[in-house]
Amino acid sequence: MLDTPTPTLDALSLATQSADPDGFAQAFGASFQRFGFGVIQDHGIDAGLIDRAWALTKAFFDLPTEVKAKYHIPGKAGARGYTPFGIETAKGATENDLKEFWHVGRELPAGHRYGDVMPPNVWPEEVPGFRETFLALYAEFDRAGAKLLSAIARYLGLDADWFVTPVRDGNSVMRLLHYPPVSPEAPGVRAGAHEDINLITLLLGAEEAGLQLLDRDGRWLSVSPPEGAMVVNVGDMLQRLTNHVLPSTTHRVVNPAPERRGHSRYSMPFFLHPAPDFVIETLPGCITADNPNRYPEPLSSQEYLNRRLRTLGLLKDGGTAG
Ligand code: OGA
Ligand code: NI
Repeated sequence: MLDTPTPTLDALSLATQSADPDGFAQAFGASFQRFGFGVIQDHGIDAGLIDRAWALTKAFFDLPTEVKAKYHIPGKAGARGYTPFGIETAKGATENDLKEFWHVGRELPAGHRYGDVMPPNVWPEEVPGFRETFLALYAEFDRAGAKLLSAIARYLGLDADWFVTPVRDGNSVMRLLHYPPVSPEAPGVRAGAHEDINLITLLLGAEEAGLQLLDRDGRWLSVSPPEGAMVVNVGDMLQRLTNHVLPSTTHRVVNPAPERRGHSRYSMPFFLHPAPDFVIETLPGCITADNPNRYPEPLSSQEYLNRRLRTLGLLKDGGTAG
């Protein structure tokens, strides 16, 4: 019997966008529509800044458990600071993920109208340079994300700046993730199968194997970016906005092969969110006779986020996302 060939996720260069915005938009949009994922090289974030960020990430997770625990803010849905092992469970899964993480959010001026749902950051005083480095990296993710969103807008036949207002002062979260060494008997996986909640996710660090996407034929496809490249994927908010024209693809992080079991895996996703009051309403251009509007109910992104955090076990009924 002949196997169907494994589909490939080709790396695209973001550096081609300035000379050929439509060409880049078509290639990136086609990858998003086919896989819900794209691999982006030449994303423009300084390699030295990223190296410093990895060093600080490792330094933080190397701290004693009781020091890290000081930065866990119970009841706040892990929105900022540290979330220890054993908290997050993928939707529908029974075992906790084998990971710990740190969240950095947007810095807002005092009294900002989103201040009630976007809490201030916390910073680990034990790791010098952490704040400056991660605020600089957050700004760079914002910049790269804006370029990618303009390509998506073009691909969808919208104005290239369509997403500028929706994401202004948006509730994006940068997550520093540590998956420690895994024993052969470990129940659960590094990250159970899930979809991301936000508009798009920009991920660094997936060169260390494990990330897989669930392709439309039901097969798991490994995502293996070239060194330094970014993996970008569609989240549920963009899937909803585009009436599933761009699919939010299920993905997971599987446990390592025996020879890599003794190594930690670090990764850094930037969950790009719209502003809390942006109303997600199906784009008219994504509604057709074959694909009628799946979401007649427009919903603010904050309400959407609250519903999803409840499902993840990160937000209890009656709590707030902030
Ligand atoms: C996530 C995620 C992938 C990775 O945090 O949502 O899918 O490679 N991470 O760590
Ligand atoms: Ni994810």
